[in-house]
Amino acid sequence: MKTIEIKPDIFWVGAIDWAVRDFHGYMTPKGTTYNNYLIMDEQITLVDTVKHDFSRVTTNNIKELTDPSRIVNLVINHIEPDHASSVDKIMSLAPDATIYITEKGKKGLDRHFDTSKWKFRIVKTGDVINTGKYNLLFIETPMLHWPDSMMTYVKEAKLLISQDAFGQHIATSSRFDDEFIECASHSDLEDSVVDYYANILMPFGELIKNKIAEITKLGLEIDMIAPDHGIIWRQEAGNIIQKYLDLAHGKTSLSIAVIYDTMWHSTELMTLPLMHGIKDEGIDCKVIKLRATPMSVAIKEFWKSRGCLIGSPTLNNILFPSVAEFLTHLRGLRPKNRIMGAFGSYGWGGGAVKEAYEEFKRMKLEAVEPGLQVLYKPSTEENRKCYEFAREFAKKVKEYHGKF
Ligand code: FEO
Repeated sequence: MKTIEIKPDIFWVGAIDWAVRDFHGYMTPKGTTYNNYLIMDEQITLVDTVKHDFSRVTTNNIKELTDPSRIVNLVINHIEPDHASSVDKIMSLAPDATIYITEKGKKGLDRHFDTSKWKFRIVKTGDVINTGKYNLLFIETPMLHWPDSMMTYVKEAKLLISQDAFGQHIATSSRFDDEFIECASHSDLEDSVVDYYANILMPFGELIKNKIAEITKLGLEIDMIAPDHGIIWRQEAGNIIQKYLDLAHGKTSLSIAVIYDTMWHSTELMTLPLMHGIKDEGIDCKVIKLRATPMSVAIKEFWKSRGCLIGSPTLNNILFPSVAEFLTHLRGLRPKNRIMGAFGSYGWGGGAVKEAYEEFKRMKLEAVEPGLQVLYKPSTEENRKCYEFAREFAKKVKEYHGKF
């Protein structure tokens, strides 16, 4: 593997994982990368490691530049195993290195490895180490997205090594945003950013706003952001910060996602007049069947839309399992600034639509009530009701969207 110099004497030494499709349940159809960075200064410093499957790749990359035993400092921005499960490998090659980590990071690392022989320095926001020509400033980012998380700012290089934040799950031979945009597309990159935000960072919008404000207050000059996944932002560093602010404020397009599942196609039949009703109000609409769509894609489509209609048949008086799973997953992501409605079919007593509204309440999401239920299969008259229901819902979504 060729190492890439991203700033003078600062190299990407990471790994590209073209094959990963399931990232702890988050589907990654485009694969991912594990980025880590070697600062070839007077004190050679490695920032982050990689997933253990790729420890040989990163050590070979490091060997292209230096003998790993010469590493003096190892900065661990985040202890999740996709970044820190090669720490033991690195420490076996550089046993005298000092590890720079947050207090919570150290506690986590102690649970994963025998750290008794390793040297540590616990760091907090504002702590700086000098490696020669570079000064590294640490910025704690607790719960963005783990309690241990931090970022490392390389002052003289105007480089923010941002760990998971600003990342994307894309395996690509491009290392930089401009390269990627040239050979793929801007919208592909943007889609990957939203996908990552929706599935990982959605619960932390308030923290993101505060942290960006704090970094702005520190007056750091940033002309490159190097996350631990995907491409490095060198052309659009300013834009990606603004994009995160927009996402954290709940900004999205005026569109509606119809997310459903079906037993004998009755709930599915309802989606067609619903779509027409939404379209006839001038709103874009996407229809997503849960068992035909990875969960992470459904979550992304939910987040990209201002309104969402959930469709579920009733099974044993409750929600259909795949719909219940989606709503449970969504609740964990603590969504905000979205408006909901529900529809579905039933055979005897019903219950799924009622349960969906209970879930919306638990999530504290605004909802348009009541929803719409049909017995067994929608009749011509009920198709018309679906259409009217969707038009009314779309009007409410427009009104709601006006608040943002
Ligand atoms: Fe990419 Fe939170 O690990």
